[in-house]
Amino acid sequence: MEKISNISLIRERVKDLKRDGKTIGFVPTMGYLHEGHLSLVDEAKKSCDVVIMSIFVNPTQFGPNEDYDSYPRDIERDEALAKSRGTDIVFYPDVKEMYPSETLTWVEVEKITGVLCGAKREGHFRGVTTVVTKLFNIVQPDIAIFGQKDAQQAAVIHKMVEDLNMNVRIKLAPIVREADGLAMSSRNVRLSTADRKNAVILSQSLFAIKEGINEGKELSKLMEKAKQVILGTPGARLDYLEARSYPDLETVHACKDRCLIAIAVYFGNVRLIDNILIENPS
Ligand code: PAJ
Repeated sequence: MEKISNISLIRERVKDLKRDGKTIGFVPTMGYLHEGHLSLVDEAKKSCDVVIMSIFVNPTQFGPNEDYDSYPRDIERDEALAKSRGTDIVFYPDVKEMYPSETLTWVEVEKITGVLCGAKREGHFRGVTTVVTKLFNIVQPDIAIFGQKDAQQAAVIHKMVEDLNMNVRIKLAPIVREADGLAMSSRNVRLSTADRKNAVILSQSLFAIKEGINEGKELSKLMEKAKQVILGTPGARLDYLEARSYPDLETVHACKDRCLIAIAVYFGNVRLIDNILIENPS
């Protein structure tokens, strides 16, 4: 596996690979890799000759009071994991390489970034879409893989690619969970032992809502019940629990066709998100 930190070097490698007729699968990450990230590598390998993973904790998607500084980082561990899963190239730029001067050009998707995490984290999605555009311009992938774990992010990237005619196919991969149901996240290591145990409340709430919907129960009642359970969970502070259409992210009062139930909960200063997509509820 190659590790490249320099934009001009990776451009050269990409040029060579394309000249040889290779297709490129791209997995953008912020590192501190876990099975969720590695499942995206598996997905990329299925349809591409070469897999490039980026590892870059992107400062422009973190708010001033968010966890940019405390975001977990361990490049040696990440390199070993990426290599063990068959990643061909890790692109690992530093902040100076990606943002050498003040950024005056931003990529911004409207409307669907104003709800859920976008409503709670001002400027977050502008940072995500800008860095992903930069990464696409650098890596020029045929396919890029994103996780359903960040369902709103995936919808936003899809819309950006469609609206701006970007020459890349976006593929989604399912959420990978711990044995107790907690969605894997780099942030999970920042939870205390007690909070880690209680964090199972996110996925349990989502599974209970899905089950209730399939039993024909009323969405509003199921949501209210879940909120009460979270309210009674020690250490948990609900940020949001909402039902929305997917990928348009409009408010829905009943689950029809394709409906996203999305949740964000704080444990201390660790913010966890999870979601479940309910397709054609019975
Ligand atoms: P990061 O949080 O590191 O996630 C990188 C990719 O891994 C995203 O597509 C995310 O949805 C996926 N992922 C994370 N946890 C997952 C899980 N449990 N199961 C399946 N996929 C999972 O998302 C970002 O980084 C950044 O915003 C980025 C797109 C790299 C831009 O900076």
